[in-house]
Amino acid sequence: MEVQTRPLADVGDPALDPKAFRRALGSFPTGVTIITSAGNGGPVGVTANSFSSVSLDPPLVLWSLSHGSRSYQAFKECEHFAINVLTEDQVDVSQAFASASEDKFSLAAWRKGQTGSPLIDNALAYFDCVCEARYEGGDHTIMIGRVVDFARYEGAPLAFSQGRYGVTVDHPDLAAKDPSEKQERADFAEFPLLSLIAKAHYKVDDGLEERRAAAGFSPVGSKVLAGLYNSPPLSAEELSRRMYLDRREVDDSLSEFLTSGDVERSGGDRYELSESGRIRRRLIIDYLSKYQSEQLADISSTDLAIARRVLERFLAKTDKPSSLQE
Ligand SMILES: Cc1cc2nc3c(=O)[nH]c(=O)nc-3n(C[C@H](O)[C@H](O)[C@H](O)COP(=O)(O)O)c2cc1C
Repeated sequence: MEVQTRPLADVGDPALDPKAFRRALGSFPTGVTIITSAGNGGPVGVTANSFSSVSLDPPLVLWSLSHGSRSYQAFKECEHFAINVLTEDQVDVSQAFASASEDKFSLAAWRKGQTGSPLIDNALAYFDCVCEARYEGGDHTIMIGRVVDFARYEGAPLAFSQGRYGVTVDHPDLAAKDPSEKQERADFAEFPLLSLIAKAHYKVDDGLEERRAAAGFSPVGSKVLAGLYNSPPLSAEELSRRMYLDRREVDDSLSEFLTSGDVERSGGDRYELSESGRIRRRLIIDYLSKYQSEQLADISSTDLAIARRVLERFLAKTDKPSSLQE
């Protein structure tokens, strides 16, 4: 018989703990889209990860819009909207359209699509839609669109999971069976140093994640503490931008830290770490430093100094191919 061995993180009634409910929903990874419409009073756009395909014939898609959105009225009345699927290098576009900015469309380059809805430049795909139906779903309206024009471009999608932006990579178990991956590994063997650096990166990432969890910090919580540590007081918006975190996750985390006393308000809408917050941040740093010591314990100081020099010089180099350098 299967035994549930995974540590329990959240459980219960959504009505009693909406934040925990949202965290559980966030365990389902999605891509990130910007949904736009021409709007009577000028173009409107929101960041949304509720996008999903519905039907191939007819070609239908859906997404859901919060009744609290400032663009709610415009989308409620619109005849057309466009879905822009973001690439992994468009985190700034996602943040811009998730913000309260009055002038989101000055923050990203765009053009008009077939139906007049704005298409965001350099997106991975777009679906230009006629609004087919709207259904009420609690505090959201489900919008169904019939796709009249679409395009897909080469590139990699931006991912969103557990309140954080991410990139997609092949699962290592599957990748090893994939002939193209085998080829890539063979090619990589010709560049052993780069291959080692890439592997080390993944190992360190996993190790740090485990240590943070062991210290009782969520990935978002530890990033919020890191963002406020040694920094002047920040607003939630600044913190979300600086640490590449979803604004709502930052709000949740800040309210938890305000309750626990680890974060204090610092005039206006700004926040700073309290003494206990600084101690907790130091605790994470200690865990991470212990991890580093464990991992490097049996490597000689000479080898470490050489490795460090090589990595520093590697990181100092520009990314441009030599043929493109001035
Ligand atoms: C990754 C991500 C996904 C989001 N998904 C949705 C969504 O599906 N529906 C929604 O109404 N808001 C979603 N939001 C929040 C809106 O983007 C945000 O509330 C925005 O400010 C709305 O813009 P507006 O108030 O100017 O209309 C999401 C935000 C982020 C960062």
